[in-house]
Amino acid sequence: MLTVALPKGRIAQETLEIFERIFGEDFAFDDRKLILDTPKFRFLLVRNQDVATYVFHQAADIGVVGLDTLEEQGLDVVRLLDLKRGICKVSIGMKKGEKFDLNKPEIKVASKMVNITKRYFEERAVSVDIIKLYGSIELAPLIGLADMIVDVVETGTTMKQNGLEVVEDIMTSSTYLIANKNSYVAKKDEVLDIYKKINSVVQAEQKA
Ligand code: PRP
Repeated sequence: MLTVALPKGRIAQETLEIFERIFGEDFAFDDRKLILDTPKFRFLLVRNQDVATYVFHQAADIGVVGLDTLEEQGLDVVRLLDLKRGICKVSIGMKKGEKFDLNKPEIKVASKMVNITKRYFEERAVSVDIIKLYGSIELAPLIGLADMIVDVVETGTTMKQNGLEVVEDIMTSSTYLIANKNSYVAKKDEVLDIYKKINSVVQAEQKA
């Protein structure tokens, strides 16, 4: 049996649909329940930011989570497969028309992804003040809390409606299937079996 950590919301829904396609049966959590037991799998419903934690500690054997979150958290898990969905970018945004100038002194950057932000500026040898926020990041430049933001951009609507624009893309993200390192060895057959089945669904979608 494999334990599968899924992030509450759309990704969990989409992943369960992949399992339904593969096994031809219904996979659905009852109302507010956080565990779904089936003969082959135990599904756990967790917060997006907690998926890799469950997998890292082997409370789940496999999980589904965005590459942006994996890069931000840096937990040592196996990245098995790009599910080619949940595609978005992590980008730098500024007030429309403002110049993106890394030579400016005392740059303040607001983000919930402080590690990705830190790495980006360190690689460019630019020292910045990073201000950690937990949401509504787009507000920070508007009221002078920060000069720029590093945030997830999907459609671009949130930035646009708040008078911001992307000045630089840092990375492209999509949803990944991940595995615990020990489970990957100890439950190799089961992990590779579900990997292959999910991969064939993803490949078929890519061709369609
Ligand atoms: C993300 C991100 C932006 C928004 C971008 O937040 O922080 O605010 O989505 O999407 P768009 O480009 O399609 O407008 P999310 O809704 O994931 O909420 P969160 O802040 O709780 O992560």
